[in-house]
Amino acid sequence: MPKLAQTQAILSSPTVGFVNSPRKENWATQFGVILAVTGSAVGLGNFLRFPGQVATYGGGAFMIPYFVAFLLLGIPIAWAEWTIGRYAGVRGFNSAPGIFRCVTGKRGMAYCGSLCVTLTTIIFSYYIFIEGWCLLYAVRYLTGSIGSGSSEYFAALFNQTSGMAGHGTLFQGGLLNPSLLGMFACFAFNFFLIYRGVVKGIEWFCKLALPALLICSFVILFRVLTLGNPTGLPGQSVLDGLNFVWNPAAPGKTILQTLSDPKIWLAGAGQVFFSLSLGFGVICTYASYTRRRDDIALSSLTAAAGNGFCEAVVAVMMVVPATFIFFGPAFLDPAFVKANLGNSFGLGFQTLPNVFAQMPLGNFFGFLFFSLLFLAAVTSSISTLQPGIALLEEGLRLNRKASVTIMGLITLVGACFTAYFTDKLTALDTFDFWVANILIFIMAGVQVFMFGWVLGLKTSMAELERGAAIKIPRFYCFVMKYVSPLYLLVVFVAWAFLSMPDYLAVIRDNKVVQMSIGFMTLVMLFNFFVTAQAVTHWEKEDRLKQDAGLTEGEL
Ligand code: ALA
Repeated sequence: MPKLAQTQAILSSPTVGFVNSPRKENWATQFGVILAVTGSAVGLGNFLRFPGQVATYGGGAFMIPYFVAFLLLGIPIAWAEWTIGRYAGVRGFNSAPGIFRCVTGKRGMAYCGSLCVTLTTIIFSYYIFIEGWCLLYAVRYLTGSIGSGSSEYFAALFNQTSGMAGHGTLFQGGLLNPSLLGMFACFAFNFFLIYRGVVKGIEWFCKLALPALLICSFVILFRVLTLGNPTGLPGQSVLDGLNFVWNPAAPGKTILQTLSDPKIWLAGAGQVFFSLSLGFGVICTYASYTRRRDDIALSSLTAAAGNGFCEAVVAVMMVVPATFIFFGPAFLDPAFVKANLGNSFGLGFQTLPNVFAQMPLGNFFGFLFFSLLFLAAVTSSISTLQPGIALLEEGLRLNRKASVTIMGLITLVGACFTAYFTDKLTALDTFDFWVANILIFIMAGVQVFMFGWVLGLKTSMAELERGAAIKIPRFYCFVMKYVSPLYLLVVFVAWAFLSMPDYLAVIRDNKVVQMSIGFMTLVMLFNFFVTAQAVTHWEKEDRLKQDAGLTEGEL
């Protein structure tokens, strides 16, 4: 038997216990992977978080730090993630631990990669709860049961939906609370899709959902932009609303005054990260299913541009002017937004339903809006399951059914935990704080470092440009090696300096915060355990290859 066939036979044999399967699945089409990555990016971050940030930072001023971060962090880090993902994917690795180990050659880096799996598992655990609200609001509009009334009515409806009034309120009537049913329905739908696999589940759904959500958003956008001045009040026309969105001088401040606040720069960078799904380990996992000669450079750019368009053009021109037209600038005043709407959800789940209530055909537009939120949320939440599934498949050599079941159990506990500890949304906020503010920055930093410093620019750029229809401007080599890591470091240190002292006090005083951190720690330990199994397999595999005298490329 020739050497290669002999080694492949050993690696596949039941005594070895695993199949050396250089990549079991590939995306069916190039367009499909672009839509899947765009789908992962376009989510609640675009349609709820972005307009919320624009309102919090006084309108158009927020666009400047956002676009700077998009160019210096968003695009380069997305390229880095695609590159390392494909580099490891063609060598047979799909999970973040496998990818990190393959790129660096260090076993310890597999454990570092497993943090991506922890963070996506946690994101899924709270994201699915919010996805349930979107579904519930869409159903309420469809059935005409949303009701109408004052701002207080919609605030009370949101409090009831989210269970913000106290821990365990959603569970008081058993499991039949509408918010829980919404969450379970979304949960089942996500797992149905992920069980069908990368092509038949994720790619298939994104091909349907993204065009559908774009159509919904264009219809609503057209409605908002043609509203004119329905209240007849001075300074509340659609043009005034657009002026608020695009004028970089925040009301009552010069541009320089606004931009001298470090918080706006942190918020711009944070938005780019969360919204593009950077540092999640999702992009590198998705990229690992591309083929050797697929165009990843242009795909990455297309997905990033599509995401930017959805938030900085469509979402913001839809949500903010609609609010401005009916309620005036006072409702979008940063102090008012912070005090009354609390977080990004306020604008979406309290103010917008009130806006729809004032609009002709409001129920129809409300239904469209929450349906588009639901679709956007699903394309993002399924993407956060794939890193965990890939690790279980690679680490424990499980088939899809088993890995989906384990992932389902862990995230079900996480989702119920989030839905139980809802007093002031403590569990949700704690999860979000740790993953969306800390872990994604660290993991993005590690990935851009691997691109520029571990693989090195020569190898990385060759991988990135293989099969690409575009040539990356050489200026970006400098950006990816020096500017992006430095920018990240500055943003992260500044954020830690500004936020950590207050947060440490919160940890000390709040039991639910401590339990949430405990839950995250358990998930992390479980992922370390699975990674340890994976490392054992990979090392065995390496030894077999070495014994057979084969180089990496020969298997
Ligand atoms: N990138 C996803 C969003 O924007 C997570 O919601």
